[in-house]
Amino acid sequence: MRIGMLTSGGDCQSLNATMRGVAKALYNNLKDVEIIGFIEGYKGLMYEDYRVMTPNDFSGILTQGGTIIGTSRQPFKLMRTPDAKGNDKVELMKKTYKKLKLECLVVLGGNGSQKTANLLREEGLNIVSLPKTIDNDLWGTDMTFGFQSAVNIASDAIDCIHTTAASHGRVFIVEVMGHKVGWLTLHAGIASGADIILIPEIPYDIDKVVSAINKRTKAGKRFSILAVAEGAISKEDAKLSKKEYKAKLAESPYPSVSYEIGKRIEEKTGQEIRVTIPGHTQRGGSPCPYDRVLSSRFGAAAAQMILDKDYGNMVGMKNGEVVRIPLADVAGKLKMVDPKCSIIKEAKALGISFGD
Ligand code: F6P
Repeated sequence: MRIGMLTSGGDCQSLNATMRGVAKALYNNLKDVEIIGFIEGYKGLMYEDYRVMTPNDFSGILTQGGTIIGTSRQPFKLMRTPDAKGNDKVELMKKTYKKLKLECLVVLGGNGSQKTANLLREEGLNIVSLPKTIDNDLWGTDMTFGFQSAVNIASDAIDCIHTTAASHGRVFIVEVMGHKVGWLTLHAGIASGADIILIPEIPYDIDKVVSAINKRTKAGKRFSILAVAEGAISKEDAKLSKKEYKAKLAESPYPSVSYEIGKRIEEKTGQEIRVTIPGHTQRGGSPCPYDRVLSSRFGAAAAQMILDKDYGNMVGMKNGEVVRIPLADVAGKLKMVDPKCSIIKEAKALGISFGD
């Protein structure tokens, strides 16, 4: 049996651990299996760029971040746009799949990659997919691999800021990744005792943010720390259409939302502000033990789907159990933080301001 595998979109710490899980469970349960690793995601599948993997390739990679077969972003919305040579990308991928006589294609990817996986499923390919992203925004699964490792790094960054913020008596903003959702900022913010957490799902009012800072100052606290999601948005901006907001961002003199928030706080409080952006460090380094376990479980479950010839599903986690979710249900849906969910209530009970 020949199985194709690829890692697609932004990387994360736990891609290798997940591929190892799939491979180990396949090698252990099938006598005759060959894994083909496509280089740099869907691009490798389009242009027949691949490596025939051996069990040795999957050895010693449980703790290794990144991806041993590389990844790239191949936007879903451009999948039906011909490539530089005028070829249909979907047809190219189908051709490679058929030429190599693959039993199925294992896709490790986030939102856009799951949409492409679903498109390939609709085109008749056997697909098994796994939920990768530090953003934890994939619909249908409580947890994605990569998320907890990123929470650790973002929390470490905020922890480090704590001591310097306390020494200088400044307001610090730490900008956390997460694309359009606030899961990473919310978890890292709570884990490291941020005073204010701003996430896209709860548009902020700058005056509420300022009054939370002033309240701390009046209470004798010399510093405040804000965990700000890269997609945080003000109440006024949330009223704009998607197009209007995009145009506003394009014309903004600030490199990111945090600098604008910082400037407005400075003007309103007179306090000294510093912005820290841990950026891609949040996707780097080794997977944390939680992710190693999750990836190993997901990998074994994906291999079981292949053994069962049950295709067209994504592996996911629901209430601690690994489940199979139809790709048709997953594709195109975002799992956002519900402003009314209990973690927000609990964070507010702790005195954390969301600027709302
Ligand atoms: O989806 C993962 C992620 O790290 C997001 O949190 C972030 O917005 C984006 O990828 C960054 O993408 P790139 O690596 O292409 O700059």
